[in-house]
Amino acid sequence: MQCSWKSVILLALASIAIQYTAIRTLTSKPFQLCPLLGLQNCGLGAQDTDAPFERGTTGGGGCDDDPYFSINATRKLHILVLATTRSGSTFFGQLLNQHQDIFYLFEPLFHVSATLVPHPSHTRNPADRRVTLGANRDLLRSLYGCDLYFLENYIRPTPTNHTTDNLFRRGASRALCQQPVCDTLGPGDANVEEQDCVKKCSTLNMTLATEACREKRHVAIKVVRVPEIGDLRALVEDPRLNIKVIQLVRDPRGILSSRIDTFRDPHRLWRIWRATGRRPYNLDMNQLTVICEDFFGSVSTGLSHPQWLKGKYMLVRYEDLATNPLLKTQEIYDFLGLTMDKNVKHWIRANTQGSDDPAAKHKFGTTRDSAANAESWRLKMSYDIVQSTQTVCQKVLNQLGYKAVKSVEELKNMSFSLVQEKTFVPFL
Ligand SMILES: *[C@@H]1O[C@H](CO)[C@@H](O)[C@H](O)[C@H]1NC(C)=O
Ligand SMILES: *[C@@H]1O[C@H](CO)[C@@H](O)[C@H](O)[C@H]1NC(C)=O
Ligand SMILES: *[C@@H]1O[C@H](CO)[C@@H](O)[C@H](O)[C@H]1NC(C)=O
Ligand SMILES: *[C@@H]1O[C@H](CO)[C@@H](O)[C@H](O)[C@H]1NC(C)=O
Repeated sequence: MQCSWKSVILLALASIAIQYTAIRTLTSKPFQLCPLLGLQNCGLGAQDTDAPFERGTTGGGGCDDDPYFSINATRKLHILVLATTRSGSTFFGQLLNQHQDIFYLFEPLFHVSATLVPHPSHTRNPADRRVTLGANRDLLRSLYGCDLYFLENYIRPTPTNHTTDNLFRRGASRALCQQPVCDTLGPGDANVEEQDCVKKCSTLNMTLATEACREKRHVAIKVVRVPEIGDLRALVEDPRLNIKVIQLVRDPRGILSSRIDTFRDPHRLWRIWRATGRRPYNLDMNQLTVICEDFFGSVSTGLSHPQWLKGKYMLVRYEDLATNPLLKTQEIYDFLGLTMDKNVKHWIRANTQGSDDPAAKHKFGTTRDSAANAESWRLKMSYDIVQSTQTVCQKVLNQLGYKAVKSVEELKNMSFSLVQEKTFVPFL
């Protein structure tokens, strides 16, 4: 019963946030219809004008003359990378970010959960989940239309004059670290590191960011805050969009290990377990259960090939990508119907082979010698943590072809791979 007052306050705060979002969503029609329109009619300035939105209410037909949503053989592609935190999605994102025709955003949904609503994976309340997911879908729809002003609704502190210093992981988007969006960097700084981008580029001008997005042929967005692929159905079926979903998965034991190292505070009890070999009595396994159930549900939906995903779905195991990055990336580009350009190839070479270049070391710590890295969790995790995880996540392990270990020897024997050969062909 300790701490229960905290829960009460948290619950109260959460419900206020949800009501707030619900009210905003219901009262602000322009929010949903904005993406139908050009930038000039959109964004915050348009909220009190009703007339432009009539065009939107006529449905998909009204969009034909909008170059960003026109139905055309060479249509703009809207790529959605559906992942979870610590599943190798930063690495994966780079494979798209580096392409010269792609405008890439790294987890813009962060701003939704940071300002208004709880992370959908952290709540089982169906009403909470619906509200969060609705807000997420609206934001994604806008961003695919390059309406970055819409994102300002969620950035805190609220941007003034369409500028902000608070876009989450701005430095992870190449286009936002280049001229003209960042004019302190010259053309020679084409491959600026994320931290350098943040240090060197001044305040982000959202108007310039929007223009940069519109100049690219395609838009790719990575999300980790959508627990089930089924939650994306409304987006995938939206005739204004041309979405292709890549579901990036990883061994949940590896995900857990990486989260324990990265998000130290929320995993304090797990660290105690790992260090002492004794499971703290108050460790709540429920969160892991929820994660693995969502994961299993999401992958099951994808792999069951529902009609609405036809031609639009591919599953990629991070471990396969790490073992064979060039080949796997080629498959991904084939699925997208795009040509993998030389920037992408160059980035893969520079970041996945144990090159002797010392400058490469800090670059992508997680991907240098990426194949070894994908299974390195086995050396960090104790056998009993692994065993408990296997019990809770058994279904998804089976489904994705990750072997359960039956002894410490098996766990620590790195010449015995836990990743079974398994082919996941794109749903064409
Ligand atoms: C599609 O759009 C492109 C660029 O806007 C244009 O050049 C092309 O002719 C269009 N194709 C069709 C089939 O309408
Ligand atoms: C926003 O722009 C207006 C007009 O140019 C200016 O007066 C104001 O100081 C700007 N606000 C901020 C916070 O920069
Ligand atoms: C942002 O960029 C646009 C387009 O170049 C420009 O008109 C605007 O003045 C800039 N905003 C600020 C606050 O500098
Ligand atoms: C490690 O696994 C390999 C491959 O399965 C096996 O041949 C070898 O005997 C194992 N080594 C130990 C020490 O168990």
